[in-house]
Amino acid sequence: MSLLKRLEQGQGKEKPEKPQAAPAGLPGGGSPPPAGQPGGGEGGSRLASLQQRRSGPAGAEGARDTYFDLKTRVQNRLLAELDPSMDVTRVAEVRKAIQELFEQILSEESIVLSRPERARLFEAIVAEIIGFGPLQPLLEDESVTEIMVNGAKNIYVERKGRLHRVPVTFESDDHVMRIIDRIVAPLGRRIDESSPYVDARLPDGSRVNAVIPPISLVGPSLTIRIFAKSPITVEQLIGFGAITPEAMQFLKACVEARLNIVVSGGTGSGKTTMLNILSGFIPDDERIVTIENAAELQLRQDHVVTLESRPPNIEGRGEVTIQHLVINSLRMRPDRVVVGEIRDGAALDMLQAMNTGHDGSMTTAHSNGPRDTISRIETMCLMAGFDLPVRAIREQISSAVDVILHSERLRDGTRKTVNITEVAGMEGDVVTLTDLFIFEQTGYEGGKVAGRLRPTGLRPKFMDKIEAAGIHLPASIFGMGRTR
Ligand SMILES: Nc1ncnc2c1ncn2[C@@H]1O[C@H](COP(=O)(O)OP(=O)(O)OP(=O)(O)O)[C@@H](O)[C@H]1O
Ligand SMILES: [Mg+2]
Repeated sequence: MSLLKRLEQGQGKEKPEKPQAAPAGLPGGGSPPPAGQPGGGEGGSRLASLQQRRSGPAGAEGARDTYFDLKTRVQNRLLAELDPSMDVTRVAEVRKAIQELFEQILSEESIVLSRPERARLFEAIVAEIIGFGPLQPLLEDESVTEIMVNGAKNIYVERKGRLHRVPVTFESDDHVMRIIDRIVAPLGRRIDESSPYVDARLPDGSRVNAVIPPISLVGPSLTIRIFAKSPITVEQLIGFGAITPEAMQFLKACVEARLNIVVSGGTGSGKTTMLNILSGFIPDDERIVTIENAAELQLRQDHVVTLESRPPNIEGRGEVTIQHLVINSLRMRPDRVVVGEIRDGAALDMLQAMNTGHDGSMTTAHSNGPRDTISRIETMCLMAGFDLPVRAIREQISSAVDVILHSERLRDGTRKTVNITEVAGMEGDVVTLTDLFIFEQTGYEGGKVAGRLRPTGLRPKFMDKIEAAGIHLPASIFGMGRTR
């Protein structure tokens, strides 16, 4: 469902009540609006607030693209003539009003356009007034999973795991800035020279990161991870060849038997997707608390409390970290704590939660492999600043974490589970790991990686826990009885 449709149906998680940024990216326009602060006085979501911010007469800088000139001219007239009391969150109404005036202006100015040109111009103007400008069509394109803006003229998207440059551009860096403001202002966040990067979310839940000059040397940069309208299912993962049915059956048993799981992998390797799948195996009668920086998990269960961290406000106060939320969650009588991602000292609290009766908890971590996951968690625990001896941390890790599932984005763009590893215990000062499943690549043909996630033939030490939960897994899952 398109973002626009979503807005029309009022299903956005947060309605863009107070669009702050100027709608029009206009050549020859005035200075860009200030980085929007929420609730910037009267106006709110009224169209009037947009009209005040619209740019001056078009064409002052002369030879710009004629399409932009035309768009700007029609757009400015539209903004001048639309009813200022109109609430821009009432998308269908605004769209209709724009449509009527748009037709009128074209005919008054004797602008002759073909039907497709007319439709394109209309959609571009609507996107500027009530959408996200040039990004709007990309946001509505179901095949796009990520949008990357590297300055005004350099835009890439990811489709099916591969990057493509798209012929979409902003008019100028100011235009990109206005769209960034429009995204972050309704959330009470800001971006300016003194705080030049920000995490935010679109009304549909898509995760946004923006970095602006002087930190970004290529102009304002935006990265948008499109929120999956329908999250990837177990069947799809198996269908994509991301994991085998046997490995999935094993993981399901691990979740049901309340083992603690860390999903690791590189950036964009599919960690959150896998965490979502694993969380889906949690029985319906358990109380789940999820903790994330930007709520991405989409659990099917009813009894879920979703918590989201918060950056500090303009005065540097009010920050709520993942660590605060992990600690707080333990007072919420959770049966399971699911943490979107651990990056810092929160790891120590997470391990303690896992070790103190909140077993069956799950999280993700960035790493290059199962062994690296252990050392990253160790480093994160050191960041908690308690001056703990490394051995004590390793003991915590080995007793807390039962399984590491490592995913990778392979060079053909596919995301796959490449290791399922048991954290077996300690030998001396070293955490011992046992691979239960490993992805074996058998070839690379026609731009595709061939291979399969194979069992290693080893049974995990925690089988007794799985059996105690009344789950019987056939020995063949682990490849026993097979020749390898
Ligand atoms: N097995 C898969 N096959 C195809 N696409 C996948 C698979 N797993 C994830 N994806 C898609 O890949 C993108 C990145 O996935 P996801 O958000 O789970 O990655 P991540 O590792 O959590 O990323 P980040 O490090 O940025 O948090 C999403 O668009 C998701 O829908
Ligand atoms: Mg993620």
